[in-house]
Amino acid sequence: MILIGFMGCGKTTIAHELGLQLNKKTIDLDDVIPKIAGQPIPEIFAAEGEAAFREYEFQALQSILKENAIIATGGGVVTYEKSYALLKELTDMPVFFLNAPFDDLYSRIQEDDNRPLGNQDIEKVRALYNSRLDKYSALADREISTSKTVADTAAEIISYMDDGNFKA
Ligand code: S3P
Repeated sequence: MILIGFMGCGKTTIAHELGLQLNKKTIDLDDVIPKIAGQPIPEIFAAEGEAAFREYEFQALQSILKENAIIATGGGVVTYEKSYALLKELTDMPVFFLNAPFDDLYSRIQEDDNRPLGNQDIEKVRALYNSRLDKYSALADREISTSKTVADTAAEIISYMDDGNFKA
């Protein structure tokens, strides 16, 4: 299963909860990228720029798709054509778009300073969010609101999979 959506939508938290409930391995794409790049995400952006980051992200995605895991992606993965194509081609893994009102996402993002593209002026971040919405929707089997508890969000995803004959 793949979780997509903007920064702050809860991908990592929900993936962890689903992993516990479904007894499955969880992989966070943002944890794999620094291993491939040899440096933390803010340093990749600062030293090599966003384009280089997206290529590392693509390589990380490619390597973990082979695993039968619950995958939390980074919010910008849909903006890179190669990564988008890879996600679009998936036939055996459900893709969930986690979403919440933009102002809620923005306030969640401000809680940590580890996101180079999130720690910007609110209107810049809003424009980024708006520019990605169509891509999240186009890739997703289902949009799930995270404006509820983690337990309720996970329960909604599990019930959708049970109904839709998806494998986790
Ligand atoms: C990014 C989102 C981040 C991380 C990087 C870029 C983005 O992941 O991959 O800072 O472009 O939206 P999260 O969505 O997990 O914060």
